[in-house]
Amino acid sequence: MTLLENLLAHRSTLSEEATDHLQALLGEWQTLADMSFADLLLWVRCELADQRPAYLCVGQMRPYTTQTIYTEDLVGQVFPASARPMVGRALVEQRVIRDADPDWSTGVPVREEAIPIRCGSDVIAVITRESNVSTARAPSQLELTYLQTAGELAQMMAEGTLPHPDASRDERELAPRVGDGIIRVDADGVVAFASPNAISAYRRLGSLDSVMGTHVERLDPEPRQLLESLRTGIPVDAEVEVNDAVVIRRFIPLISGGRIIGALLLVREVTELRQHERALMVKDATIREIHHRVKNNLQTVAALLRLQARRLHSDEARAALGESVRRITSIALVHETLSEEARQRVPFTRITRRIIDMLSQGLVGPDLPIEFGLTGDPDELSAEVATPLALVLAELLQNCVEHAFPYDQQPPAQDACVNVCFDRNDDDELRVVVADNGVGLPDGATLDELANLGLRIARTLLETELGGTFDVSRGDPGTTIELRVPLRPATS
Ligand SMILES: Nc1ncnc2c1ncn2[C@@H]1O[C@H](COP(=O)(O)OP(=O)(O)O)[C@@H](O)[C@H]1O
Ligand SMILES: [Mg+2]
Repeated sequence: MTLLENLLAHRSTLSEEATDHLQALLGEWQTLADMSFADLLLWVRCELADQRPAYLCVGQMRPYTTQTIYTEDLVGQVFPASARPMVGRALVEQRVIRDADPDWSTGVPVREEAIPIRCGSDVIAVITRESNVSTARAPSQLELTYLQTAGELAQMMAEGTLPHPDASRDERELAPRVGDGIIRVDADGVVAFASPNAISAYRRLGSLDSVMGTHVERLDPEPRQLLESLRTGIPVDAEVEVNDAVVIRRFIPLISGGRIIGALLLVREVTELRQHERALMVKDATIREIHHRVKNNLQTVAALLRLQARRLHSDEARAALGESVRRITSIALVHETLSEEARQRVPFTRITRRIIDMLSQGLVGPDLPIEFGLTGDPDELSAEVATPLALVLAELLQNCVEHAFPYDQQPPAQDACVNVCFDRNDDDELRVVVADNGVGLPDGATLDELANLGLRIARTLLETELGGTFDVSRGDPGTTIELRVPLRPATS
């Protein structure tokens, strides 16, 4: 829920349609503030506790083109109707109200205007437009064009044609602002005014004509949508790319009394931004390709060791090579998963599943089914954490498979289960518990006495690479190992 929706839901009785209209208005009104050189406040009706009429401020917009009058934030504040008489008049008279004399109460002369906001047949809110007139001097051509257009935009809000009910309401985070470049065209589509930035943007698009006095059709490389908009009155946002230059345009037809009297064309050059985005995509693809190759190389190494193991006669040597193959394969799994991701983070559940698959395919005989369970969500981990953690997990699971269920010595009393549980309630730490219901660790031995290469590798990786802790406890039955991995310090 947006701030506006929240305020309206709690403090006013506006319909859903009216709420949507105001939400769309907030997407447009920066242009009005900038062209008016004025602060804008959006007001809706509400009541005081004693039921006297009042107005609730539900939006505030400061101009980029001049200093603000209000340094404080008024959104959410309620004013008795008597404190804001012009809002009341705009609501009742349903027309734009201008005050004759500036108000000096803030210390500077402020001229206020109240614009009723129409949605369908109702006036649902009022925008006050307040500008500091102390700095007024003979305005430039640019300022005059801005002020004239601002008056027309305000009139459209009062007539209910801005925001346009049929305009698309997509997110427009890159939408051009007044300062980016602005062109004013007349009802025939001929440019009547163009700001220097707008002229530069069209030069980048290859337009050699003088911009002023040129028809949009000649000026713009892809004018179809703009001309269509000038005919229908529905604003459009469109991006155009020519000669590697990318410009986004926002075309707002100006409507007065049902007639299209011209249009405002806001343009913003985003060439560098787009180039940057493309470069990032290429970089991502390259990194993925490298992970893919690392995975292939590791798999080749594993295959070579497997070949070599087959030629050995000593069981111990064969087993040692077999373990190395498994360790290398677990690292390869991480690279494989990273090669599938757009970003350098991996969903660790996927890696865990792959480790379990690898172990249950290679090592669990059909006569000893082990059930693997996986609960909780480790979420995404960076490659720096995922690689050592995958190795640790592979060691622990391998031990469960190898030592927890020596069924040739004693048949298991119950189904053999191994559970991996992730807990990431806390953003800074991942807890991993690996528990089996097997025979348990040999009696009396401490971890240090027990540990051969596997547990040593696991512990060293966890404590030195990941800066985490390693805890072994005897379950009833079985063995439980708990790992705690700090997430931010280790990755930074
Ligand atoms: N889940 C387990 N259940 C029973 N015993 C285990 C378990 N995990 C480890 N152990 C014991 O700890 C010893 C050391 O494990 P490890 O360091 O991985 O070396 P290895 O697996 O090569 O014997 C194992 O030999 C085994 O006795
Ligand atoms: Mg082991």
